[in-house]
Amino acid sequence: MPPKPRILFVVAEAWPLVKTGGLADVVPALARALIEQGHDVRLLLPGYRAVEEAFAGKAAGRAFEVLPGLPHARLLRGRLPGYDIPTWLLHCAPLYDRPGGPYTDAQGRDWDDNSLRFALLGKVGAMFGAGAGLDGWRADVLHGHDWHAGLVSAYAHFDPAVTAATVFTIHNLAYQGNFPPTVRDTLHIPASAFQPDGLEFYGHLSFMKAGLWYSDRLTTVSPTYARQICTEEYGHGMSGVLSARGGALTGILNGVDGEAWNPATDALLPARYDAGDMAGKARCKLELQDRFGLARGPEVPVIGMVGRMTAQKGWDLLPEAVERLAAEKVQWALLGSGDAELEAGLGRLAARHPGSIGLHVGYDEALSHVVIAGADLFTVPSRFEPSGLTQMYSQLYGTAPVVRRTGGLADSVVQATPASIADGSGTGFLFEEASGSALAAALEAAVQMYREDRKSWAALQANGMRQDFGWRRPAAAYARVYQAALRRRTG
Ligand code: ADP
Ligand code: GLC
Repeated sequence: MPPKPRILFVVAEAWPLVKTGGLADVVPALARALIEQGHDVRLLLPGYRAVEEAFAGKAAGRAFEVLPGLPHARLLRGRLPGYDIPTWLLHCAPLYDRPGGPYTDAQGRDWDDNSLRFALLGKVGAMFGAGAGLDGWRADVLHGHDWHAGLVSAYAHFDPAVTAATVFTIHNLAYQGNFPPTVRDTLHIPASAFQPDGLEFYGHLSFMKAGLWYSDRLTTVSPTYARQICTEEYGHGMSGVLSARGGALTGILNGVDGEAWNPATDALLPARYDAGDMAGKARCKLELQDRFGLARGPEVPVIGMVGRMTAQKGWDLLPEAVERLAAEKVQWALLGSGDAELEAGLGRLAARHPGSIGLHVGYDEALSHVVIAGADLFTVPSRFEPSGLTQMYSQLYGTAPVVRRTGGLADSVVQATPASIADGSGTGFLFEEASGSALAAALEAAVQMYREDRKSWAALQANGMRQDFGWRRPAAAYARVYQAALRRRTG
């Protein structure tokens, strides 16, 4: 058995310091599982203002030049709160010390210097893989996550001093970090790399393409999405490069952080429960109905949905599904934010159905737990879904998922049938077409079982609550990817 490699995660977000989506949940949970399996895993994150305020970091060495012409940077050394994972923040006030989100300003507009902000991150990541590394630590494997870290592998490739192997994980191929070619000089990317067999993408310099092209190994967050992104339909223009690198790509379904998401211990719930005693779930349902302005009623089926309001997630299918299900007398508890038009449209929908559609626009971690615990059904009608986490959380909370059969949703939900319920595998309801009517039909089947066949319903809940979505197996799969990357590096 080869020795366990030292691994640096280079990443733009990590719970609890900064989170816009599932990436932030995955990073610390995967790192912890790898550490439990004996790896030395450390994180490198940008020192955004809010993150530095929450991170008790110590200056690690002096400011240094990362790329000529760019502001100098420093490392702050500390540990990820709540996880105790060794973490460096990349401190560079001109690039990261500002209000707003990690990628956008308070109005949701991309920062216009994002190419610099994430090139700096990528270059410093690569520096950890050269010579003695940085702050006395050298990585054997540089593991970049999503486009923000795509240049890690490119800078590592361009610099012969970098000996570390590179792994790049696609969490969402829809976000690519494509910038005008004029940034190439500023980022010190060699002209020879700006070509189709490199990081050029339809005339742009693409951070995502850099990750796909230059990394020793690639992963994405479910086996089905790994196959889908090699097709034109799901490839977001990258299917060609992904097919060319197909042999290097592995799909590994995300896990669930069992410390944050466990109904038996969840401190964010008004009551806790487990498969042996579900009384607490009924309390959570009443709380949910109150919090969302829904008429109290233990027997009324409540459908929950939580997520970013973007075209990806299928929120626009809800109006038609709501109308089709109106006769069923169901309630909806909806939590999300994002696209202003979607927010407004859902606001109008909720206003037309007072007492049966409750909508919270915003980001609310605690409320998301109440929705996932208190609802009877949880829907994820995504057009595409690399992995998805909430359909796994909901199963563990005895809340049956109703999902579109795509990406990680297809890999983590098994259609309920009499046979699958009986053999313990059936956990939810799937539909094929991205349409309001297909979503409604699946929800109707679920509501019918909930109302008319409580025995099957209870078995379905129990099946979901028994699922092993832990990080142990996925972490072992990542460990094999690191070994493969190292073998490629060392020939
Ligand atoms: P994605 O990364 O595409 O957004 P995932 O399902 O992987 O989708 O992860 C989304 C994560 O963000 C989950 O932990 C989910 O609970 C959380 N989340 C999304 N929107 C909200 C919100 N409005 N309030 C609270 N949590 C949210
Ligand atoms: C992305 C995907 C989501 C996945 C998450 C973490 O944001 O949209 O499906 O679960 O990354 O990997």
